[in-house]
Order: sequence, then structure tokens, then C-alpha cells
Amino acid sequence: MPLRGSARPRTGALAVPLGASRLGASYLGASYLRASFLRASLLCTSFLCASPLYAAHPGAAPPSAVLALADTATAAGQADPPAIADAPACHTQAGWDLACLRARYAGSAAGWPAPTIDAGVHWTEWAAVPPASSPPLQWTAANAGQAELAADVARPAVVTLGQMLFFDARLSRKGQVSCASCHQPQRAFTDGLPLAVGEDKLMGRRRSTPLYAAPFAPRLFWDGRAASLKEQVMGPLHDPREMNHDAVGAVTRLRENHMYPARFLEAFGGAPAASSSTVASASSAAASTASATAATTTVAQAPAASTPTSAVDADRLARALAAYVASLRPEKTRFDDFLAGRADALDDTELLGLHLFRTQARCMNCHNGPLLSDHQFHNIGLSFYGRRNQDLGRYEATRDPADLGKFRTPSLRNVAQAGPWMHNGLFPDLRGLLRMYNAGMGREAPPADPPDPYAPRKSEHIKPLDLSPAEIDALLAFLKTL
Ligand code: HEC
Ligand code: HEC
Repeated sequence: MPLRGSARPRTGALAVPLGASRLGASYLGASYLRASFLRASLLCTSFLCASPLYAAHPGAAPPSAVLALADTATAAGQADPPAIADAPACHTQAGWDLACLRARYAGSAAGWPAPTIDAGVHWTEWAAVPPASSPPLQWTAANAGQAELAADVARPAVVTLGQMLFFDARLSRKGQVSCASCHQPQRAFTDGLPLAVGEDKLMGRRRSTPLYAAPFAPRLFWDGRAASLKEQVMGPLHDPREMNHDAVGAVTRLRENHMYPARFLEAFGGAPAASSSTVASASSAAASTASATAATTTVAQAPAASTPTSAVDADRLARALAAYVASLRPEKTRFDDFLAGRADALDDTELLGLHLFRTQARCMNCHNGPLLSDHQFHNIGLSFYGRRNQDLGRYEATRDPADLGKFRTPSLRNVAQAGPWMHNGLFPDLRGLLRMYNAGMGREAPPADPPDPYAPRKSEHIKPLDLSPAEIDALLAFLKTL
């Protein structure tokens, strides 16, 4: 029965027609597409040889035998079968055998078929997102000062204060924008815009990041230029294209406010020593999204931000904001139910999407672990090198040529609410984004003679995927369950 058939069973055999000319990427030049497809079909790279399309020869085992094979593999215990053997198991000439997939994904993730992972990739299995109340090391990642952060998150008065500040436009110079203007809870803490718009309508260079990965990521921002949340949160305050303010101004305003001094007192106790050495006001360049000199992460002292007479100072402001951001967790979804072993939480199409995500579509190479992010940096081919909207990503923070065009893998939790997607909001819809992955993304830069040492090199994990339109639909359905 075709995937798009009118009466689709919830379980049972589901045929996804296999075809050769499936690369549907309207974003790419036709000649490049033709060339890459030809290359793929002629050379049969190791990945493509392992894909169901190439592995299922005409006259291969009939559906029942395939199903039996799958059952044996599942029953034989989770002896970690090699991923390549897994891929064709639930696939016949007629298409995907959904009953077989159901059997293989019954139970918790520990018993599922191994995903298709490239050699040398360190990955972790999907799991529930550790709650803020779990042991700090599970979620404070490499945050400098994680003991302080963990203690702050455990104190409701600090988190509540952070939340008030996060939603308060008084932190910006003219009172126009709050953190929540750009990080809106109902949009996975993004803002629905391709590029962030700050005070006085100044537009930044990148899209507002969803915040669910922030408590867990060893380095923050799309390019990883901040090493801890506390260092990060003062960045937007200073950025002329965001809140356009400074720590001294913000602290003064909070001190004059009728409610904040009491809230700070409740959260942190009496006034800190005047010579506090842990002021967290990053210099404006340190975390500016607008500035190319963002590499430095200097922590500068905010003069007069701390006096013995007030409980409000810049360090505490940063701590409260960091604690609130660190307390954020994605909304629980049907995906969580499925992870917990509730088999009926996903329908057939979604389950097929899950399987493809882990195998043929190769997404697990980077989108793994509880947040569906490895928190690493990769160049998936969106640096626009040499063009007017060029963004060299991590390289701009490190100036290490190995980092050219790399961006941090975003979490895919609640991803359907987070668009438009990618660091530059390039994709207004997820199907277009998936088509682009299916085509192996674009070519980074035309070959130069002599070779250009600055030309970003696309990750070797990004390759044409040969997914049919119905399989792309299934992937899309799966993404919507996350
Ligand atoms: C004008 C819009 C805007 C405002 C206002 C804003 N942000 Fe952001 N935020 C962004 C953008 C854009 C990025 C990504 C910048 C980059 O990676 O270069 C970002 C990134 C972040 C990150 C990094 C997340 C990660 O996982 O790397 C955190 C945390 C964050 N913002 C918190 C805050 C806080 C706290 C405030 C208020 C003090 C705030 N933001 C105000 C636009 C904004
Ligand atoms: C080589 C690692 C890698 C692989 C493989 C990979 N991704 Fe990504 N993904 C990334 C990175 C890095 C970004 C951010 C890139 C950018 O913004 O320039 C990203 C961004 C995304 C986004 C946008 C999220 C957002 O909030 O903007 C989605 C959706 C996504 N990937 C889905 C997938 C799917 C589906 C697959 C498999 C077909 C996949 N990815 C394979 C690394 C990877």
C-alpha cells in the first residue's frame, strides 16, 4: 500500500516505492545534481552500497523471510549487530515492512537496531532530557563555574528572579526588547525570524538560537565563542544590535526599581563585597553577534557595578539569568513516550521516519544524545563563502582553518516550533531543509586553481541520501514528534 494511500493502516506492510531519480533539491543547480547523482550511481560509495536501495537485489528474500530475519535479530538479544546488516532487514522490493520495523523498535532504545554511524564518530543514544534537578554533571556540561550554576538552579528564588529579568525589557537601553523578545517560550525560545532584530530594529547576523541545548553545551552560540552561560548572558545586554545597553546602566536601573533590590536580596542575600572579582560583564566585543571581533571572551570588571549598599550587582544579574536559562527544558512530546517504551506513541509514518533518521538519512552522526545534538561543530555547507552573506562560523571565533564554515549542531527537541531553521534562518520550511540534506547540501565553493586554503570544507558526514519523496515525508513526520 503506498505511503500516501487514502486508507493507511496503523501497522502492517507499507510500500514506499523505490525510484532512481529521487534527488529533489530545487535549491541546487541542475547540473551539479546530475553530476552528483551520476557519481553516486556509478561509484556506489560505501554508504550507498549499504543502503537498502542497493542491498535489496531483485529476487532477494520474500517479505516473510525478511520479517523472520528481523525477528531473529531482535530476539537474538541486543548483540549490537553491525548497522549495515540492520538497514535492509525491514525492507523488501515492495517497500518498507512496517510490521517488521515495529518489532525491531519495540521496547526501549537500548534494544533497538544500531544506527548507521560513520567510523570515528563518538555518539550517544537518545534518552530523556535530564531534569534540572538531576546531578549537575549531567547537564552543566563544561560550564565554567558549574558548581555555582548548579547551586543557583537549585534555588527557586534565583531562578524566579532570572525569569523576571529574562522577560523584562528594562534591561535594554531604551526599554524596547527583553531576552524573551528574541527567545520566545512557545517557539522553542527562538523568535520566528531568519535574523534577530534588536533595539531600534537593528538586525543581527544570525538567527536567535533555540535555548534547550544551552544548559548542556560545552560552548555557547552558533560558533561556540562563549564558554559558560554566565559569560554568555551578558553578551546580548551589550550587543548594539540586541539590547544595546551595558552592565552599569542595567544595574543602576534595577537598583532604582521598586521591586528588584528585594528580589536580589531574597535570592542572593545581603550586599556582596565591593571588590567582588567575579563580575560577569563580558565586554561588548566578547559576545556581540554583530562584531567580527567576537573571538575574545574577556571578562571585564564593570566599574561601580557593585557597592556594599546594594544586593544588586552585575555578577548576580548574570547568575540569575544563567540559572533561568539553565533551568529550561524542552516540552515533553510523543517522542519521549516512544523512548520510554510506549510503542503506540508514534504512527507508522513517524516510525519509518525515526528509522530513516537513524540509518539511511545519517542524521544520527550528529543529532544524537538526549538533546539530539552532539554539541560539536560541523560545516554542513551553509557558509556562503565568498558571497555577500558569508558566515564562517566557528572560524570567526578561533581563526583556525579547520573550523571554516562550522556551526554548532542545534538541538532538535521541539524543532518544529523553532523555524525558520539554521544559523541564518535559511529554510522557512522543514521539507525544503530535508530535500537539501537529501541532496547532500550544496557545494561549498567552486574548485579554485590554485586551491584556496580558505575554502570551507563540507563535513564528510554530509552525503546524498537517496531518499524518496515519501521517505522525506516520513522524516518530516518524525521531526514533528520531537
Ligand atoms: C535581538 C535578539 C536577542 C536578544 C534581545 C537576546 N538574544 Fe540571545 N541570542 C540571539 C542570537 C541571534 C543568538 C545567536 C548568536 C550567535 O550565535 O552568534 C543568541 C544566543 C543566545 C544564547 C546561546 C544559546 C546556545 O545554545 O548557544 C543564549 C543562552 C542566549 N542567547 C540568552 C539570552 C539572554 C539571557 C538574553 C537577555 C539578556 C538574550 N539572549 C537576549 C538573539 C537575542
Ligand atoms: C555532520 C553533522 C550533521 C548531520 C549528519 C546532520 N546534521 Fe542537521 N545540523 C547540523 C548542524 C551543524 C546544523 C546547524 C548548521 C547551520 O546552522 O549552519 C544542523 C541543523 C539542522 C536543523 C535545523 C535546526 C535549527 O533549529 O535550525 C535540522 C532540522 C536538522 N539539522 C536536521 C537534520 C536531519 C533530519 C539530518 C539527517 C537527514 C541531519 N540534520 C544531519 C549537523 C548535522
